[in-house]
Amino acid sequence: MSNDIVIRGLGRHVPEKILTNADFEAIVDTSDEWITTRTGIKERHVVSEGEYNSDLAVGAARMALKNAGMEAEELTHIIMGTITADHVVPSGACVVQEKLGLKHRVAYDISAACSGFIFGLENARAILALHPEAKVLVIGVEVLTHRTNFEDRSTCVLFGDGAGAAILTQGGEGPKLLDVKLSTDGSLANLLTVSGGGSAATYKLGDTVGPEYFIQMQGREIFKHAVRSMTGICNQILEDNNLTNKDVDVLIPHQANWRIIDAVGRKFEIPAEQVYSNVQRFGNTSAASVPLALSEADETGFLKEGNLVMLTAFGGGFTWASALLQY
Ligand SMILES: CC(C)(COP(=O)(O)OP(=O)(O)OC[C@H]1O[C@@H](n2cnc3c(N)ncnc32)[C@H](O)[C@@H]1OP(=O)(O)O)[C@@H](O)C(=O)NCCC(=O)NCCS
Repeated sequence: MSNDIVIRGLGRHVPEKILTNADFEAIVDTSDEWITTRTGIKERHVVSEGEYNSDLAVGAARMALKNAGMEAEELTHIIMGTITADHVVPSGACVVQEKLGLKHRVAYDISAACSGFIFGLENARAILALHPEAKVLVIGVEVLTHRTNFEDRSTCVLFGDGAGAAILTQGGEGPKLLDVKLSTDGSLANLLTVSGGGSAATYKLGDTVGPEYFIQMQGREIFKHAVRSMTGICNQILEDNNLTNKDVDVLIPHQANWRIIDAVGRKFEIPAEQVYSNVQRFGNTSAASVPLALSEADETGFLKEGNLVMLTAFGGGFTWASALLQY
C-alpha cells in the first residue's frame, strides 16, 4: 500500500431554510446593498427548530461515505471541527458516532473555530501515520446562527449553518493530501469571542444570557489579520514543498467575506477565476466553509485531474491554516 494520504470521498450538507438579505432588512437596520458590497453575501442557510449540528454533520458524512464507496462501519476515527456542537458534553463527534450507528471508535472534537476542518486534516495525517489501516472521517460543521446576536447588525448578517466532510486513508483513489500547516496566536483572542457558556463565566439557575453569549468581534481588525495570516501560511506551505504560487491551480479560501477572499487571491497573485467562492450563497459557515466549498468544487468539475489545490482558513483564537491537495 502506498503511504500517500488520500481523500477518498467528500460530502456536504446544509439546512433547507434560507435567510436572504431582504429578510435581514426586516430584522435590523441594514440593506441588501450594504451587505452585498461589504461582504458579497446574498443568502445563508439556517437550521430550523429541531435540526441540529449533528444532523448537518451526519448528512455531510453520509454523502462523503457514498462518494468514497464506503460503509459507515468501515470508519475507525471521527474528528469534528466545531465550536457549536449540540452540547458541551458529550462532544459533537460522539453524537455523530451514535447517529451513524457506530460503537467503539475514536471520536473527538477540535476547537479551532473557522480553521477546524484543516486542523482536523492534520490530525488525520497523524492518525494515519500511526495507524496505516485507519479510515478517518473529518467533519467541519457549525450552527453559528445559534450563537449570533440577531440585534447586532454588524455580525448577524455574516453567518450561516452547514457541514462538510472528508474521508481519508493511506493509499487508494482520490486527491493526495500533500501537506498541512497550522498556526495560532492567543494574543489576538479578544478580536473574536463567544465567551458566554465557558467556565470563566459563573452562571446560576435562572440567569438570562447576555451579549457575551453570542459572537462579538472587531470586524476591521479581523479583516487585516485574516488577509495577512492566510497569505502568509499559504506562502509557507509552498516554500516548504519547493513550490511557488505559480504552481497553484485553484485556491479555496475560508468563505468569510468576498472582499477577504478577493484580497487573499490578489496578494497571492492567483487569477480570480482560479479562486473558488460560494460565500454568496452560504455566508460564513466557519469550520464548515472550506469542506463545503471543496466538496462543491470537486463535484461540479471546478477541480480537475492534475490540479494543485490550496486550502486556507483563519478563525477566532486566532487560528489559521493551509493545506495542499494534488488532484
Ligand atoms: C464586518 C465587516 C463586513 C464590516 O465592514 P467594514 O467596512 O469594516 O465596516 P465597519 O465595521 O467599519 O462599519 C462601517 C459602518 O457600517 C455600519 N454597519 C455595520 N454593519 C452594518 C449592516 N449590517 N448594515 C448596515 N450598516 C452596517 C457600521 O455601524 C458603521 O457605521 P458608522 O460608520 O456610522 O459607525 C468587515 O469588517 C469584515 O468582514 N470583517 C471580517 C469579519 C469576519 O470575517 N469575521 C469572521 C472571522 S472568521
